[in-house]
Amino acid sequence: IVIYVPRDAAALAMDANAVAHAIERIADERGLSVQVVRNGSRGLLWLEPLVEIATPEGRIAYGPVAPEDVGGLFDAGWLTGDAHALRLGLTEDIPYLKQQERLTFARVGVIDPLSIQDYAAHGGLAGLKRALAMQPAEIIDEMVTSGLRGRGGAAFPTGIKWKTVAGSPSDQKYIVCNADEGDSGTFADRLLMEGDPYVLIEGMTIAGLAVGATYGYIYVRSEYPHAIETLEAAIARARSVGWLGQDVHGSGRQFDLEVRKGAGAYICGEETSLLESLEGKRGVVRAKPPLPAISGLFGKPTVINNVISLATVPIILAKGAAYYRDYGVGRSHGTLPFQLAGNLKQGGLVEKAFGLSLRDLLYTFGGGSASGRPLRAVQVGGPLGAYLPESQWDVPLDYEAYIQISAMIGHGGLVAFDDTVDMARMARYAMEFCAIESCGKCTPCRIGSTRGVETIDKIAAGGADTKQREQQVHLLRDLCDTMMGGSLCALGGMAPYPVLSALNHFPQDFGIESPQSA
Ligand code: NAI
Ligand code: SF4
Repeated sequence: IVIYVPRDAAALAMDANAVAHAIERIADERGLSVQVVRNGSRGLLWLEPLVEIATPEGRIAYGPVAPEDVGGLFDAGWLTGDAHALRLGLTEDIPYLKQQERLTFARVGVIDPLSIQDYAAHGGLAGLKRALAMQPAEIIDEMVTSGLRGRGGAAFPTGIKWKTVAGSPSDQKYIVCNADEGDSGTFADRLLMEGDPYVLIEGMTIAGLAVGATYGYIYVRSEYPHAIETLEAAIARARSVGWLGQDVHGSGRQFDLEVRKGAGAYICGEETSLLESLEGKRGVVRAKPPLPAISGLFGKPTVINNVISLATVPIILAKGAAYYRDYGVGRSHGTLPFQLAGNLKQGGLVEKAFGLSLRDLLYTFGGGSASGRPLRAVQVGGPLGAYLPESQWDVPLDYEAYIQISAMIGHGGLVAFDDTVDMARMARYAMEFCAIESCGKCTPCRIGSTRGVETIDKIAAGGADTKQREQQVHLLRDLCDTMMGGSLCALGGMAPYPVLSALNHFPQDFGIESPQSA
C-alpha cells in the first residue's frame, strides 16, 4: 500500500517527517507492507500534513495528521479507507481542489518530485519532445500565441521577451530563472520547485532551444533550503539520464543549468540586481536600457523569467498554444496560482483562470477570516501592491481591470486583514519596508522612503490638530508622486501604491474625514 506524506517545507514545518517515521514504525510493528512516498504539497496548507492513501478508487486524504494520530489511524483501518475523524474523502473531491484549474500545478502534490519516471507518466517531457522537433522560431510563435505574460508580476508577454533574445546575435546566451520569491504572502514558486522541479527544468530547456541559449541559472533565495536541495537533486538526475548536458535527449542540442543561492535581499528579485548578484557583485539595480534581453548576464542576451512563467512553458508546448490561451479573460490568458495568506481560515494555493473575483478567493476558497471577525482590507501583489477595500472585491482578477483601480495582481499573492487592522500603520510599514530594502541607487526611493515614514509618524502624532494632519497628508501625497515618477525601479516606484490606497480607502485611520479633505 502506498502512503503519501508531503516533503514540502509547509508540511515539514507541521511535523511531516515525524508523521512519516511514525507510519513506517507502526506499519513495521504490525507487519503491514507499506511504502511511504514523499510528495509535494497539494497546496491546502491548513490541512498539512495532508496524508493520502492510494486506493483503487483514488487517493483518500487525511489531515491535518499529527504524529500522535498515526496509531489511531491504523486502529481505525485507514489502509482500507475506513472512517476516522481526520478522513477527508477522495483528495480530488475536496472542494478547494476540485474547483481549481490546475495547469502549471497539475502534478504538484501528485507525484514523487524526484522521480523522472513519475514525471513522464503524468505528462511530463511531452512539451520538450515537441519542442525538439520544432524550429526555434516556431517555439517562440507558440509562446506568443499562448498569451502567457510574465508571472513574476510585471505581466510582460513571455514570447515577445524570447523573440528579443532570439533576435540578439551572440556567441553565448543565458536562461535565468528568478526564484527570489520575496513578496509577502507568496509561496507559489517554492511550492512548485519543491513539488515538481522537473517542470521548471523542462521549461528552461525549451527556452534554451527557442532562443539559442546553452546554459541556465536558477537564482533561489537562501530562505528556501528545501527548494534548493530538491532542485539540485533533480538537476543531477536529469544529467544522469541524458536530459541535461551536451546532447539533450540525443538531439545533438546542448543545455545545462545550475542553482545559485541568493543572500536575502528583496531587491535581488529585481532582474538587473539579480544579474549583478549572479555576477558576484552587490545587488544594485542597473539602469534600463539596455534590457537584459539584449545585454543581460555578463553582458550577453539573457532570458530572465520567473519560476511560474518558465514552469508554464511545458504545458503550452504539450497541449498547444490555443489550449492555454482559451483560459482567462481579456488580455489575461491562462491561469494564475493565487496564494491565500494572512487572516484566512483556509490559506493555500489556488490555481484558477483569470476572471474570478477576490471575493471568490476570500470566501469560496479562503473560508473567510481565521479570527472570525469581518475582513476589512486585502493587499494584493506583495508589499508594493494596493490595499483593496470591500467595495473592490468584485473586480475581476484581470491585469487590465486591476490597473484601472490603481492596483496590481503582481505575483498573485494576497494577504487578508480583519477589522482590527490599522491602515495608517500598514502605510507606515510599506514606507519602512522600502527604506530597509532600498538599494540606495536613486534619491526618490533612498531618501523618500525615510521621509515617508517620518511623515506618517507626524500624521499619527497630529492629535486633535486636523489642520496640521491634513498638511502632512498633502506632503505625503506629494512625496508619493515624486517616488512614483522619479524612482529607477519598481521598489521605489510602487511602494506608494499601498500608501495611497490606504489613504484613499481608509482615510479615517489617518484621522482625516475623506481622501478629498487633504
Ligand atoms: P518591467 O515592466 O520593467 O519589465 C518586465 C519584464 O519585461 C522585464 O524582464 C523586462 O526586461 C522585460 N521587457 C520590457 N520590455 C521589453 C522588450 N521590449 N523586449 C524584451 N523584454 C522586455 O517590470 P520589472 O521591473 O521587471 O518588474 C516589476 C514587477 O515585479 C512589479 O510589477 C511587481 O509585480 C513584480 N515584483 C515581484 C516580486 C516577486 O517576488 N515575484 C517582488 C517584487 C516585485
Ligand atoms: Fe534602488 Fe530604490 Fe532606486 Fe530601485 S527605486 S534603484 S531599489 S534606490
